[in-house]
Formats: sequence, structure tokens, C-alpha cells
Amino acid sequence: MDLQLKDKVALVTGGSQGIGKAVALRLAHEGARVVVAARGRELLDLVAGEIRAAGGQVAAVQADVSRAEDCSRLVNETIKAFGGLDIVVNNAGTSATGEFESVTDEEWQTDFELKLFAAIRLSRLAVPYMKQQRWGRIVNVTNIGAKQPRAKSMPTTVTRAAGLAFTKALSKEYAPHNILVNTVCIGLIQAGQHERKAAKAGIPVEQFYAQVAQDIPLGRVGRAEEAANVIAFLVSEAASYVTGTSINLDGGSSAVL
Ligand SMILES: NC(=O)c1ccc[n+]([C@@H]2O[C@H](COP(=O)([O-])OP(=O)(O)OC[C@H]3O[C@@H](n4cnc5c(N)ncnc54)[C@H](OP(=O)(O)O)[C@@H]3O)[C@@H](O)[C@H]2O)c1
Repeated sequence: MDLQLKDKVALVTGGSQGIGKAVALRLAHEGARVVVAARGRELLDLVAGEIRAAGGQVAAVQADVSRAEDCSRLVNETIKAFGGLDIVVNNAGTSATGEFESVTDEEWQTDFELKLFAAIRLSRLAVPYMKQQRWGRIVNVTNIGAKQPRAKSMPTTVTRAAGLAFTKALSKEYAPHNILVNTVCIGLIQAGQHERKAAKAGIPVEQFYAQVAQDIPLGRVGRAEEAANVIAFLVSEAASYVTGTSINLDGGSSAVL
């Protein structure tokens, strides 16, 4: 399938590792010009190097997307590098869960800034460019917990549920401008966050993946490239009639559609 992504300008937050990295590599492979953003310089540079070595065009911008000023600078640098902005993948994030009474105001605030406000701010900054060209794609990466929150899953499940509502409302408002907005609800995908958790628990990450796979109908944790395949489709011309939807990327584990 030709995704018709050649020369589109795509901003991928959290593009230095895991799902974001796989999305950046995939979009660059499809001919898009990619901006990857994250806080850490080293991994960003490695991804940028990988894309350039494969003949792709990329800019790596160090930014903390939980800060309003970094979001503005990120979009400005995208425009400076490539002269436009067609696609935003709001992917930066990390797991944040605990017992309700132990989660402080500060932790709630941090989670909202990183997962919700970053998507709000970057979308608000990107939409004027997308409106101008009557073409735009926004994908918000969320979590299946948004649809079926379990005990001790806050603040993430609440922030992510807000992300679902944000996606739907934005899709309705900008459909007349041919700006399509969707979300992917992630279950378990192999990524740095799980490697760090396993290391903290003192077990090999393969053991962690094998344990959690027992509850996944497909019998395994997903690969970042499998998430990237779906996200690349959603931001492409091939998905031209898909907006305001959420896709579970969870190997079948979610109990809800
Ligand atoms: N993997 C899963 O099983 C899973 C499950 C549910 C939801 N998700 C969601 O999927 C998304 C990608 O997760 P992943 O598993 O691929 O994570 P990951 O491997 O830990 O990568 C996270 C990326 O986000 C960046 N990041 C984190 N905080 C940031 C900030 N404040 N500003 C800018 N960049 C930031 C990280 O780089 P720096 O640290 O250098 O900034 C890194 O590039 C996240 O939103 C996550 O919550 C993943």
C-alpha cells in the first residue's frame, strides 16, 4: 500500500526510544521528513543518525514537551527545518500509577502536563499550518486503561481518558479542514519503560514479558514496529476517511471495543 507520505513533515514526540522511535523510522522510510523530540540528547542523535544513514531527512530537537515554552520552540524549529507541519504524533509519555491516596497533587499535575497538555499545546500550535493546506493528521498515543481503568491505575488512566475525549472533540472540530485526529490505545509494547521496570525489579526483561504475556490473547507482548505500522497508516493518505476513532493496540487483551 502506498501511504503517500513522501515529503510530508511529521513531528514525533518521544521519538528517541520505543514506540516513538519506531514511528520516526517508519515515517522516514516512507519518505516523510521527520522531527524527533525528547529530553535526552544522546538517544535523539542516535535515531537521527540512523535515519540519515538510511537516506532520510530528520531534525532532532531536545525538548521537554510538558513545558509550554518547549512546545512552542519545538514547532518553531520544525517550521524552520522543513517549512511546514503536516503530521503530529503525540507519543511522549511514561507510566504513572499508584495507590490513590499516595498520588500527590504534584504527580497528578505532572501527568496532565506531560500526557494531556503536551498534546493540547502541540495540536493548537500545529493546526494553523494544517488548516492552511487543508491536510493534517494528529495521532494521540494513549493507553487501553483509558477505556477500562483498574484499581491503582491513576493518574495515568484518568489522563488518558481525557486524551480520548480530546481526540474525539478535536476530530469533530477540524474535520471540515481535512485534519484527521485519532488515538491508539496501547496495551503492552516492548519498550524502554519495561526494561527499566524489570531492571528495578532485578529480573530479565524477557521474564517480565513472558509473565505478562499470559494475560494477552495473542500470547505475547507487542513490538514497537507493530505499533508504528498502525500509526503510519493513521497518518497517511490511506486513512483519509478515518477520524475520531481509537484503535486498541493490545494483542486482544482489552475487554472493550
Ligand atoms: N510500551 C507500552 O507498553 C505502553 C503502554 C501504554 C501506553 N504507552 C504509551 O506509549 C508512549 C510511548 O511509550 P514507550 O513505551 O515507547 O516509552 P519509552 O520507550 O519509555 O519512550 C518514551 C519516550 O518519551 C520521551 N519522553 C518522556 N518524557 C518526555 C518529556 N517530558 N518530553 C519529551 N519527551 C519525553 C522519552 O525520551 P526522554 O526520556 O529522553 O525525554 C522517550 O523518547 C507513551 O506515551 C506511553 O505512556 C506505552
